[in-house]
Amino acid sequence: MCGIVGYTGPREAYPIIIKGLKRLEYRGYDSTGVALHNSDGLKIFKKKGKVAELEDAIIGKNLHATVGIGHTRWATHGEPSDRNAHPHRSAGGKLAMIHNGIIENYIQLKQELTNKGYIFTSETDTEVLLNFIEEIRKNNQCYLEEAVRVALKRVTGAYVILILDEDNPDTIIAARKGSPLVIGVAKGEHFLGSDASPMLEYTKEVVYVNDYELAIVKPDQLILKNLGNEKITPYVQKLDLELAAIEKGGYDHFMLKEIFEQPQTIYDCLRGRLDAEAGTITMSGIQQYTEQIVNANRIIMVACGTSWHAGLVAEYIFEELCRINVEVEYASEFRYRNPVINKGDVIIAISQSGETADTLVAIENAKQKGAIILGVVNVVGSSIARTSHGGAYTHAGPEIGVASTKAFTAQLAVLTMIALKIGYIKGTISEERYRHLLNELQQIPEKAAWTLKHSGKIKELAEKYKDARDFLYLGRGYNFPVALEGALKLKEISYLHAEGYPAAEMKHGPIALVEKTLPVVFVATRDAWHEKVISNMQEIKARKGKVVAVITEGDKTSEQLSDDVMIVPEADEIVAPMLSVVPLQLLAYYIGVAKGYDVDKPRNLAKSVTVE
Ligand code: G6P
Repeated sequence: MCGIVGYTGPREAYPIIIKGLKRLEYRGYDSTGVALHNSDGLKIFKKKGKVAELEDAIIGKNLHATVGIGHTRWATHGEPSDRNAHPHRSAGGKLAMIHNGIIENYIQLKQELTNKGYIFTSETDTEVLLNFIEEIRKNNQCYLEEAVRVALKRVTGAYVILILDEDNPDTIIAARKGSPLVIGVAKGEHFLGSDASPMLEYTKEVVYVNDYELAIVKPDQLILKNLGNEKITPYVQKLDLELAAIEKGGYDHFMLKEIFEQPQTIYDCLRGRLDAEAGTITMSGIQQYTEQIVNANRIIMVACGTSWHAGLVAEYIFEELCRINVEVEYASEFRYRNPVINKGDVIIAISQSGETADTLVAIENAKQKGAIILGVVNVVGSSIARTSHGGAYTHAGPEIGVASTKAFTAQLAVLTMIALKIGYIKGTISEERYRHLLNELQQIPEKAAWTLKHSGKIKELAEKYKDARDFLYLGRGYNFPVALEGALKLKEISYLHAEGYPAAEMKHGPIALVEKTLPVVFVATRDAWHEKVISNMQEIKARKGKVVAVITEGDKTSEQLSDDVMIVPEADEIVAPMLSVVPLQLLAYYIGVAKGYDVDKPRNLAKSVTVE
């Protein structure tokens, strides 16, 4: 969480920082701040609220500077407020710092500093770390860089920090552990960001800073060191990302753009890997580990949020096609549970951002215990991708709307390909079924386009149901996790209470909620469970609940039973979730918009959860 930006070079820093912060708002947006070094000295401007609010509030101030840092916050320590907003200034006044992460031992450090007479102006752990650094610099009479190194050796937790020093006007000191930091390299200037989006129009050359590394960044020099003060040669990589990919492109919201991109993103994900005619699936990042996966006693999927739902769908698919026992774990539970990991277990980490703290630590722990880690990740070069032994990128392009949409369908596409490949090698699926499923998968982009084309009525449904207090989402089999995902989407952006449940299990509790004002959204596409789902629909109708169903085109029985329907084309049940989720994404989106909410930046949420 939290987005950080920095710039040092010959240009005006403020516009670069503000534009960069707007691109990083997906990471948090409860307060914003910038620190600039200009003719007035080291100036800090900060405020509770989104980036645009700060921008409006400081019009007319002296914002001319060629070096600066900026922060968009997702509160952890201390409520969102002007004084808790970053940057923080050290007690001596010379240093300004922004921070993404959590300093876990800040209470102890705060106590030490308080005993020495420090007074704190905020409730943040960040201000504590900054003053701790300042205290070390004062005591040891050392350079800032040295003080940072000494301080970070005492710190537990996660951080990316950027520091400006009034006495060293053009230099930014940066350090990372557990949260992402990218440095853009150009002639005579450097850019810093939580991801590469703030620097896209200026440079395509980037350095991904690793954990326990410290950077001394000047306009014409980038020095990387480890905490032992040894120099590290920066590994400069070429960015494969275009500006258009992070802009709205005529859509009202990123979320809508991303929903409508799905035919293309699924296509991009399959392209070059799936060849239905030749009957092949080529995944270079998996190739080396196929034998281990084929012989695995168990596959453990670890993930959070929407990615966890993708893991649940994959559980059904892997068990069906590969006959391997699969467990799907919330990363936050898995990492603290002392799980039994046996030799021969394969862990698949699923993550859009590749930076989710719990997922990252879960795989680090499992790696130490000897498991093979495969990452199904969207963001290239992200921490989870780099920590994994192998894996496959989802190639969905940047996902900016906080509620995940296209990343989910791309994750399903990748996971289905892996399962098909392994099942085929293992001989747990017949040649005929394999070929059939390759064809089915290849048709998904086209069928997703069809689904979107036939989604016109969903906006009306949103108007009809937007005032309901609760929603129930039900599904069976492959569509049960889709029901969970539909409910999550609605909760995230419409702030409505929505519960996803297995359609049959509904009788053991949620059925008590059913009355004529309760919309019950069924994911009821034609599959092996279809007749059972129809019976569940009858049970809801008998209790006067409103049935809204995602159904297969031409399914008259379900249509007659439902108050309203959303249609998807016929598809094999293994690949159907990539289609049945689409109307649910749209339903949530239109309800959120109808209720007047900022669907791209829903309250309290952040896209990249880099704190545990
Ligand atoms: C946050 C986001 C969700 C996402 C989850 C996991 O909660 O708001 O959309 O599903 O994190 O993120 P990851 O990047 O690991 O998929």
